[in-house]
Amino acid sequence: MDTLTSTHTAATADSYRPALHYTATDTWLNDPNGLIFHEGVYHLYYQNNPMGNVWGNMSWGHATSTDLQTWTEHPVAIACDENEDIFSGSIVYDRHNTSGFGSGSVAPLVAIYTSAFKPGSMHEGVQAQSLAYSLDGGYTWTKHAGNPVLSRGSAEFRDPKVFRYDGGARSYWVMVAVEAKDFQVVFYKSDDLKNWELLSTFGPANATGGVWECPDLFPLPVDGDPDDLKWVLTVNLNPGGPNKGSAGQYFIGDFDGTTFTSASTVTEGLQDPDRLGEYGWLDWGRDYYAAVSFSDAPDNRRLMVGWMNNWEYANDIPTAPWRSPMSLVREISLQTRNGDLCLVQQPANETTTLAGSDSFRLSEATIDDAVQVLAGAAGTVQRIDATFTPGSAEEFGLILRGDGVKGTRIGVRPDEGKLCVDRRESGQTDFHESFPSMDTAPLRTTAGSYHLSIFVDRCSVEIFAQEGQVTMTELIFPAESSTDLSVYAIGGTATINSLQVTQLA
Ligand code: FRU
Repeated sequence: MDTLTSTHTAATADSYRPALHYTATDTWLNDPNGLIFHEGVYHLYYQNNPMGNVWGNMSWGHATSTDLQTWTEHPVAIACDENEDIFSGSIVYDRHNTSGFGSGSVAPLVAIYTSAFKPGSMHEGVQAQSLAYSLDGGYTWTKHAGNPVLSRGSAEFRDPKVFRYDGGARSYWVMVAVEAKDFQVVFYKSDDLKNWELLSTFGPANATGGVWECPDLFPLPVDGDPDDLKWVLTVNLNPGGPNKGSAGQYFIGDFDGTTFTSASTVTEGLQDPDRLGEYGWLDWGRDYYAAVSFSDAPDNRRLMVGWMNNWEYANDIPTAPWRSPMSLVREISLQTRNGDLCLVQQPANETTTLAGSDSFRLSEATIDDAVQVLAGAAGTVQRIDATFTPGSAEEFGLILRGDGVKGTRIGVRPDEGKLCVDRRESGQTDFHESFPSMDTAPLRTTAGSYHLSIFVDRCSVEIFAQEGQVTMTELIFPAESSTDLSVYAIGGTATINSLQVTQLA
């Protein structure tokens, strides 16, 4: 690497606070919950410890946004009490007041959440589904007196995602939830959100290396054709991801109002460890978990958010007073690419149109077995768009948040068909033995070249490769002064067809 002298400025815990990603002001968060667009406002509820910055006292925190960029934190929406922790769930707008929680002309928002009953409570040891409702657009909530509304007597029944199924003459609420330790998604139906009837189950299938959590089910048009709908079932699992720990997988298939039939199951029953790389992963990085989608997003968009952390080290990441960011909001679509049906993810437009400045550009440059710091491209919060064509190099790519010697390496290995993220020298890594890692995802070329869109924030990288066909999301904790951006090639040449850096902070 070109020699540079740099003064090392250690990061303070709060200097990691993201510019583009949501965090709670001074508390812990995990899973996004109850995502809904209602009366012009995006509501992001989330697993929150209102009293600290490690997991515990699980309640629903709350933030809102009108542009998916800037979020306003509100008081805790649904709080734990002596009987229950409030685990993950969803919110629906009950516009026809099927639940009867409405008042006068006001239809309720209804939250369906998991009551994790505490020792000494009436349902000790059980996880069951409960309701709360809001008549003021989601700011204050009342727990339903008849909770829980759905129990299986199970200690691992959780994370209900509810949506309105409209099959013409048959229209009702559908709940997807999990029996976490059975690797099963369970489907229920209801007319009033209070009485639930079992429809079917799905799983075990594909990845089963850890408990199944936080499922979601939604239809998407294939290549934008509203007459060609497929259903996507997502289910998060922990541990057992493709690069260790928490991750989310998906299945593409059909839902007939009763049963989900997968057309993308690779293995049934318990997983085949040798085939982990063949399963459908929402994200191949280590820090994208518990992803679920918004209800009622405008224009039929399917917008998802994930928790940017991994249960392997979640409580130990070196941030304070807050802990854990959310991912960028992603728009999901189904597209045919090279004859295959692919789940494609892009940052939601609102996020990509963030005001940028100070753009650095490079085109048609060849790099030969070297690391080249790009003068004028340094930064801590940026969007990087790069297209490469392989030459003789075995690996090429970018080193970001570097200090002239070390940094986070994002590389393509064309012969192996792989994208790699190496954060072993990304900055602070020693807070947990499982954090420093070299992670990979399968990556195929498009017409001989590779395109990477990378969003760099103060403690993360989110990579959308090949126009969103493969994503990798990882936390990093670099020194504040580690701002260099370099390009590199190992063992030969590679061409940088274009490189554009937009400063976002
Ligand atoms: C997933 C999860 C959920 C549960 C919640 C508890 O990260 O374990 O299954 O509802 O977190 O905070």
